[in-house]
Amino acid sequence: MNVSLTVNGRPASAEVDPRTTLVELLRGPLGLTGTHVGCDTGQCGACTVHLDGRAVKACSVLAGQAEGTEVTTIEGLAPDGELHPMQAAFRECHGLQCGFCTPGMVMAAVDLVQRHPNPDEHTVREQLEGNYCRCTGYHNIVRAVQSAAAEMGGS
Ligand code: FES
Ligand code: FES
Repeated sequence: MNVSLTVNGRPASAEVDPRTTLVELLRGPLGLTGTHVGCDTGQCGACTVHLDGRAVKACSVLAGQAEGTEVTTIEGLAPDGELHPMQAAFRECHGLQCGFCTPGMVMAAVDLVQRHPNPDEHTVREQLEGNYCRCTGYHNIVRAVQSAAAEMGGS
């Protein structure tokens, strides 16, 4: 089957098996390997992207379900090479170690701040509970999200 969608502001399409997931479409035919696969079962959040502006776990969405949608991946957050405030905050606050969870964490965090412009610590922890990090103990991730929220000015 053919799937046509908009990815990071550009039209994209590919011929895929109907069982192909969105993350397989992104990482395979579309070559966007910034989106990671951890569990492949919807639990870890490493594959989080935005689908029509909302964070989704791309291993749990079929490519066919993304037909006609707008998808943003981690590559789309910094199209001109200048880090998005959330990426800059993760770097500044040391919100990562190995970095494997980071793309999904950042995409979930951007969606979080769009819905909660000034999140308190409890809100950040609650909203990110679908994203696992095996390295950082989450403290610096929470600091990064709150710092970026201030920087993003509630946008
Ligand atoms: S790879 Fe999708 S939630 Fe883990
Ligand atoms: S930084 Fe390593 S899994 Fe999060």
